[in-house]
Amino acid sequence: MRTVHTLKELRAMLREYRRQGKRIGLVPTMGNLHEGHLSLVRKATEAADVVVTSIFVNPMQFGATEDLDTYPRTLAEDQKKLETAGNTLVFAPSNNEIYPEGLARQTRVSVPDVSEGHCGASRPGHFDGVATVVAMLFNMVQPDVAVFGEKDFQQLAVIRKMTRDLKMPVEIIGVPTSREKDGLARSSRNGYLTAEERKQAPAVYKTLQALAQKLQSQEDTQDFAALERAGQTMLSEAGLRPDYLNIVNSHTLKPAAPDDRELTILVAAFLGTTRLIDNLSLSR
Ligand code: PAF
Repeated sequence: MRTVHTLKELRAMLREYRRQGKRIGLVPTMGNLHEGHLSLVRKATEAADVVVTSIFVNPMQFGATEDLDTYPRTLAEDQKKLETAGNTLVFAPSNNEIYPEGLARQTRVSVPDVSEGHCGASRPGHFDGVATVVAMLFNMVQPDVAVFGEKDFQQLAVIRKMTRDLKMPVEIIGVPTSREKDGLARSSRNGYLTAEERKQAPAVYKTLQALAQKLQSQEDTQDFAALERAGQTMLSEAGLRPDYLNIVNSHTLKPAAPDDRELTILVAAFLGTTRLIDNLSLSR
């Protein structure tokens, strides 16, 4: 497995793979890889001959008060893990390689509708940062297929819409959320949790499961606002500070309507200073 840091090296490697007629898969990440990321890489190896994992902590998607400076950078460990998952090539560019003129002078990609609300409301500009860097990665790698986790449900919707709207010839694959034994969604940010907070964290998924069960039962199925309030209370009682808990149409991410059949519960909640997100989709 090779690691390259510049677009020039990346293109040279990929030119050779393409000449050999290989199908190219991309797994965009910000590094500090865990089992969830490796499941994306394994999925990519099923869909492509050559898998490129990008590792870039993208400053454009962090708010001014967020954890850009402290976000863990663990390239050496990440490389070892990727090797075992069947990855072919690591692309780990510098900030200067991606944003040579700085963030302020960078052309941006903005995806309307699905970027609004939920994390888009709590983290203004976040999804413009995600869409911009993913569009650039698509242009740099020119993958046939790109793989993303469903844990970032809204992000996946933003990327799907961007790809569709901009006619990008990339197949997008979503992979179900990888969870710890107690249900906690795997995330690089779980490493910020104290031992006490780690014990409280599974309440996020438990809350989602309890609400999903109610939505699938015959009772309470129409009063989404009451269910959202009940979910927020469950989180608060477990010691979390809810940011939002929204029951939405799985396709539009708009508030659920009584006759919607496919619903997703989206949640973000703080444990101390750590913001956890999760979601659960159901059909009824
Ligand atoms: O999900 C992530 O890790 C990031 O948002 C992504 C898609 C790599 C873009 O920086």
